[in-house]
Amino acid sequence: MNFNFTEEQLAVRDAARDFAQKELLPGVIERDEKQQFPAEQIKMLGELGFMGMMVDPKYGGSGMDSVSYVLAMEEISKIDASVSVCMSVNNSLVCWGLEKYGNEEQKEKYLKPLASGQKIGAFCLSEPEAGSDATSQRTTAEDKGDYYLLNGTKNWITNGNSASYYIVMAQTDPEKKHKGINALIVEKDMEGFTVGKKEDKLGIRGSDTHSLMFQDVKVPKANRIGDDGFGFTFAMNTLNGGRIGIASQALGIASGAMELALKYAQERKAFGVEIAKHQAIQFKLADMATEIEAARLLCLNAAQKKDAGEDFSREGAMAKLFASEVAMKQTVEAIQIHGGYGYVKEYHVERLMRDAKITQIYEGTSEIQRIVISRSLLK
Ligand code: CAA
Ligand code: FAD
Repeated sequence: MNFNFTEEQLAVRDAARDFAQKELLPGVIERDEKQQFPAEQIKMLGELGFMGMMVDPKYGGSGMDSVSYVLAMEEISKIDASVSVCMSVNNSLVCWGLEKYGNEEQKEKYLKPLASGQKIGAFCLSEPEAGSDATSQRTTAEDKGDYYLLNGTKNWITNGNSASYYIVMAQTDPEKKHKGINALIVEKDMEGFTVGKKEDKLGIRGSDTHSLMFQDVKVPKANRIGDDGFGFTFAMNTLNGGRIGIASQALGIASGAMELALKYAQERKAFGVEIAKHQAIQFKLADMATEIEAARLLCLNAAQKKDAGEDFSREGAMAKLFASEVAMKQTVEAIQIHGGYGYVKEYHVERLMRDAKITQIYEGTSEIQRIVISRSLLK
């Protein structure tokens, strides 16, 4: 591993940090309270090139590497994880999959507006009865010759209402099990497509999570990504990269909480000295810094492997597993360091703790990451 960042990578990190401080920090508490989707902020991120970071500029992207993506995701997530989940889904689940597996017409029509930030995308795999057990797709895409007839319900879809284009996994041939699943690009205004109510969540409350209903939606065959039956492989390969995004989100939530705790510990006095002078607080800070650094190295390791064109599925799962556990544990510690002040909204750390929890659940729970890692060890 060699993490001597290039000047370009450092410039991306600094631009993301500046943006987060200037544009995300003001209003982050209010957006969380009101469950307000950060539409303006996402538009600005798109204009700065952060919504299609790794996409070739000829398709409207910024042509950056995955290491830059990790650095940017960490900075944005330090301040607002509702923004960074939208960014992560658009970059690594939607744009990456379309660029890697879409055909030229799909890239022209869908990837360009998504990568340039004019439109937002969503990735729709989970269903009411198919979350971790993702091969058990109940949504059906019946082959009708030149179109698929799409029926079913997707659950928990990030960018559910704000998206214009949705990549939907659906079962075409149940006899073939997961090899009968297709990935289809669905447009929001297609007849028979309805967006359900917004979920009222513990954390990432600004992010718009919705269920989606499809009733006899006619999706042209031209909107299928890859060959017939490629949908599950598409979803799994895409999720491998998505997990680097969520790992970096968890890293950012943890390091954001640590920055706040470090500052507070040097200001707050108890027993006549700054609390940072008490060894119990110093040890907490030491553990935080150590675990966060380990999480950062795992994220960068997975990203570097991806950039080198190597298989990174195990490393991505390790990064997500570890970083999300660190985020949960260390945001709780950040609250402890803040005492009673940590328990109220004004000091930000309680929101970071609420936001941390989802990183252990979406894009594969911690248990699923352990399955991915152990299967790769044992195969
Ligand atoms: N990379 C590539 N291929 C993979 C893979 C991976 N990480 N994991 C599984 N596969 C492939 C297998 O090789 C197999 O393919 P073949 O039959 O061609 O060999 C196929 O997928 C089925 O795998 P299994 O036989 O292992 O199937 P399983 O049912 O025992 O387990 C699973 C599959 C790994 C548990 C999978 O269902 C899974 O990853 N579940 C979690 C789903 C998930 O992460 N959902 C996230 C939704 S998106 C989201 O959450 C976005 C957001 O929040 C912001
Ligand atoms: P279940 O699969 O029912 O799991 C319940 C519990 O059982 C978990 O602890 C799980 O780890 C455990 N478990 C299940 N199977 C095993 C096993 N074999 N071994 C050990 N333990 C097991 N999905 C999308 O497709 N697109 C999105 O954009 C998206 N965004 C989301 C946003 C939010 C806010 C949320 C909450 C979810 C989102 N999801 C999305 C869905 C998410 O990926 C699923 O919630 C997740 O994969 C878990 O599925 P489940 O909720 O059905 O839990």
